[in-house]
Amino acid sequence: MAGNSFGEVFRLTTFGESHGDGVGVVIDGCPPRIGLSPKDFVRDMARRRPGRNSIVTPRSEEDRVEILSGVFEGLSTGTPITLFIRNRNVDSRPYEILRQLFRPGHGDYTYFKKYGHFDFRGGGRYSARETAARVAAGVVAGKILEPSGVKVMAYTIELGGIRAGSIDLEFAEENPFYCPDPIAAERMERALAKAREDSDSLGGIAEVRVTGCPAGLGEPVFDKLDADLAKAVMSIGAVKGVEIGAGFEAARHKGSENNDPITPNGFQRNRAGGILGGISNGDEIILKAAVKPVPSIGQQQDTVDREGRPAKLKLTGRFDISPLPRIVPVLEAMVRIVLADHYLRSRTMK
Ligand SMILES: Cc1cc2nc3c(=O)[nH]c(=O)nc-3n(C[C@H](O)[C@H](O)[C@H](O)COP(=O)(O)O)c2cc1C
Repeated sequence: MAGNSFGEVFRLTTFGESHGDGVGVVIDGCPPRIGLSPKDFVRDMARRRPGRNSIVTPRSEEDRVEILSGVFEGLSTGTPITLFIRNRNVDSRPYEILRQLFRPGHGDYTYFKKYGHFDFRGGGRYSARETAARVAAGVVAGKILEPSGVKVMAYTIELGGIRAGSIDLEFAEENPFYCPDPIAAERMERALAKAREDSDSLGGIAEVRVTGCPAGLGEPVFDKLDADLAKAVMSIGAVKGVEIGAGFEAARHKGSENNDPITPNGFQRNRAGGILGGISNGDEIILKAAVKPVPSIGQQQDTVDREGRPAKLKLTGRFDISPLPRIVPVLEAMVRIVLADHYLRSRTMK
């Protein structure tokens, strides 16, 4: 079925399932002569990788990116780039129960209603494993943006109701939660330990900041930059809300409080989040994503089987306790992908 492709000029199609041979992405529209080697993917893939620490699923995947096409002698050729990440540490046994029972909060029920037949092992196509392909595509997008000095960084500003009170971006890179506040990071660790003890899970909020983005990215009217960013971010599993700039808060303010006054030296503040009229204004782009707690929990839950009969489900298997922090690199990748697409689109206009 359609729906696996994204972007206009920088266009990607992801493929694969959590417990199949692997996941991957075909990127069409990458310009030629972009330097690319398997090493370029190592850092970002490691940041998303499962099995990194005690917070995330113990499924241990190496997540090595194989370049199958579109690169010759270390440079992109302008032809489709295929990136493949093999599944190695697959254990489908705990998922056998999902042949019959639907996990509350997950996509099992809706995939069954829609397709009647689907690969439910490890969440199949709707598994977070698919996001490995997005992170790989995000590396290529980052390479396109690099010469313009565009930098994208995401971090966790809330987890299990605990909010970061300060923003230290260097510290955010150093701790397993990508939390920019050392005190909040400690509290988050305790909250996650408690959730694990209770066989429960936690949600949170991540913030993305883009620096160095020039004014002028975004198209009228359906392909506004904020509209495309919202779609890109909402397409990540577990994301339930997206805010640009002041977001929902803007609704509680007067125009005089919410407008960002313009001076010859730029904007006096940035409640717009760097986008006006769907076009980047040259200021920092600021986006927040609300992330729900992972649906797979070890507590007994009410559900039904494929015939609609009531049942109880108690899951075993390997799950994250929260989609944060693994979602942080995925957010960065999706934002880079949208910006690279709009950058290439605006270049073809000139
Ligand atoms: C990085 C990441 C990791 C995730 N880890 C898990 C997990 O271990 N267990 C789980 O049930 N859901 C996990 N999810 C969430 C599910 O993929 C998601 O809730 C599911 O596909 C249903 O989609 P929806 O929540 O958008 O409705 C994760 C999502 C992301 C983005």
